[in-house]
Amino acid sequence: MASMIFAVANQKGGVGKTTLTLNLAGAVCDQYLRNKKDGDEEFRVLVIDADPQNTSMRSAGVAKVELPFSVISLAGRVDMGREIQKLAAGYDVVFIDCPPAKEGRATERAMRVADFVLIPLDASAADLWSTAGMLEEFPNLAGEIDPNKAAIVFNKTNKRLKSFGTTKKVLTTASPFRILQTVIPQREIYRTCMATGTTVFTIKGERRAREAQEEIHAVLEEALQVMHRLEEPSNAA
Ligand SMILES: Nc1ncnc2c1ncn2[C@@H]1O[C@H](COP(=O)(O)OP(=O)(O)OP(=O)(O)O)[C@@H](O)[C@H]1O
Ligand SMILES: [Mg+2]
Repeated sequence: MASMIFAVANQKGGVGKTTLTLNLAGAVCDQYLRNKKDGDEEFRVLVIDADPQNTSMRSAGVAKVELPFSVISLAGRVDMGREIQKLAAGYDVVFIDCPPAKEGRATERAMRVADFVLIPLDASAADLWSTAGMLEEFPNLAGEIDPNKAAIVFNKTNKRLKSFGTTKKVLTTASPFRILQTVIPQREIYRTCMATGTTVFTIKGERRAREAQEEIHAVLEEALQVMHRLEEPSNAA
């Protein structure tokens, strides 16, 4: 069994699902490589592209350097949930890049088998409405709502703008899920990385890459903290 399956999902298009998926996969590989000792077993990370737009696949396809994780597509598969679980057995961590819209049921299938769901959005009314609409359906997708099963992360967002404060306030009331403290701003490097099939972890020694690496690691760390509460005994203080 894979130790962890993450789905990155939001029915809203263009919020950064693919960007986060690929960079989070880069982050777990980076963490492993930094702590690796001689004799450590191989660490296997898989990105599953569940989106018929195939953006993760396309991005990985233009890579000139070898990515430290594998990317495969399961877009359009009716039996996606079972296929994800079968594939995941061969990996330590799996990230699922979900499509926008929920009509195809790919997001539902991915969320059902995921241990944790990350929900990116930008601070705008359109993102808020779309995300709130998706959250309302969460209990149908995942059974009982467990507030530790998912987290919301602002992406492409300027924390100083009023729209951030307003959106965050509304979402805090509307969502059973934690909103991560880490806010990912607009950074050109995320666009460049997607266009060149890299992640921010491939680029060494550049300040803009370092800042982006730090924020992606912070998102991962916070998500893991929320997720680990799932494993605590229910009678824990
Ligand atoms: N933090 C960021 N800073 C700058 N550009 C970003 C950031 N996050 C995402 N982008 C860019 O925004 C666009 C949409 O991002 P992405 O493809 O990751 O979103 P998505 O939610 O996967 O979209 P879709 O719903 O179409 O699958 C891309 O061009 C991407 O490079
Ligand atoms: Mg995408």
